[in-house]
Amino acid sequence: ALQRTFSIIKPDATRRNLTGAINAKLEEAGLRIVAQKRIHLSKAQAEAFYAVHKERPFFAELTEFMSSAPIVAQVLEGEDAIAKNREVMGATNPADAAPGTIRKEFALSIGENSVHGSDGPDTAATEIAYFFSGLEIVG
Ligand code: CMP
Repeated sequence: ALQRTFSIIKPDATRRNLTGAINAKLEEAGLRIVAQKRIHLSKAQAEAFYAVHKERPFFAELTEFMSSAPIVAQVLEGEDAIAKNREVMGATNPADAAPGTIRKEFALSIGENSVHGSDGPDTAATEIAYFFSGLEIVG
């Protein structure tokens, strides 16, 4: 079914001027970028977005990193967009990511892994609503 998912181009990628290269990968995978904005998260905003991970040992590192430089927040639309985006992103750890995936080609490490994508329909809805109003999503 036609679905929407939430995506972030992370600070390691915006710093290296990879926004266009990553968007090309997303579009080649059949995903449409129906909303997009470049923002610099505060530490508090990064902590709120990743609240589900707050007990993890890497939470401080993760939220420092995500607030260290601009990100590009996106809504992606397509057939089975959530799974399709997870496929084109590749495994969380670039060492485990398949050839041709965004993380295999661009990610630096498990933390600086270039992109985030929602892991299911409920998180997609929550994550989209955290960053975008209905008026900003143009399918
Ligand atoms: P993301 O999909 O943005 O969701 C949580 C993030 O935590 C994940 O991608 C990784 O970038 C990050 N992460 C997971 N494990 C580690 C780790 N061991 N060290 C640092 N960051 C991690």
